Amino acid sequence: MSHAKGLIFLGPPGSGKGTQAQLLSEQLTIPHISTGEMLREAITKKTKLGKRVQYYVNKGELVPDELLLNLIRERLNQDDVQSGWILDGFPRNVSQATFLDKLLLELGKFSEQAINLEVSDNQLVKRLLLRGREDDNEETIRRRLEVYREKTKPVIDYYQQQCRLTSVDGTPPLERVTASLKEVITT
Ligand code: AP5
Repeated sequence: MSHAKGLIFLGPPGSGKGTQAQLLSEQLTIPHISTGEMLREAITKKTKLGKRVQYYVNKGELVPDELLLNLIRERLNQDDVQSGWILDGFPRNVSQATFLDKLLLELGKFSEQAINLEVSDNQLVKRLLLRGREDDNEETIRRRLEVYREKTKPVIDYYQQQCRLTSVDGTPPLERVTASLKEVITT
């Protein structure tokens, strides 16, 4: 059986996951799957899911797993992911990571690589304040960084311990980060 490539982009808020995932999705012609985007779209459209998640997203808290797992299962079952995908913003805690492992085993057609974008906290805060998305205010940014350290950092350790992690410096200008990512993405 041939294995399609799944890429998992990890890193703190503002590290460039979304930007790089979008660029590489276009260049590699595989879909960019961002849980943050999916949740923001649901909030904008005021769907049932959107109404349930708005509070968490605005506060910088993680949305409860039960609201996300089905979303990911459905997305990774769609036709356009057959030759690969880039996940951005998922998994966000160790239980999401183990769920993803089980799901990928069940789907049986993907080999995946986790990539961690590293950027200093000072840079992150500067970038996010400059962007100014609804959850980019000082209080929510502070909480998102805390949540990252408490809940998401262990996901980095999880992939690292299994020798499935590649780290890339996310500090240089965009194009240089994209070039570094292309160098480390294995086919
Ligand atoms: P999500 O949308 O995933 O936000 P995030 O992780 O906080 O990440 P950001 O989008 O802020 O940063 P990014 O790393 O993608 O950087 P970006 O490329 O945008 O999640 C939002 C919320 O949804 C969460 O708080 C949570 O509530 C919920 N959620 C989502 N997924 C969930 C999950 N799995 N479980 C539970 N809850 C979940 O870049 C940031 C800025 O920096 C941009 O302006 C960009 O232009 C700039 N920039 C990027 N790279 C560079 C560079 N190299 N040099 C200079 N500027 C740069």
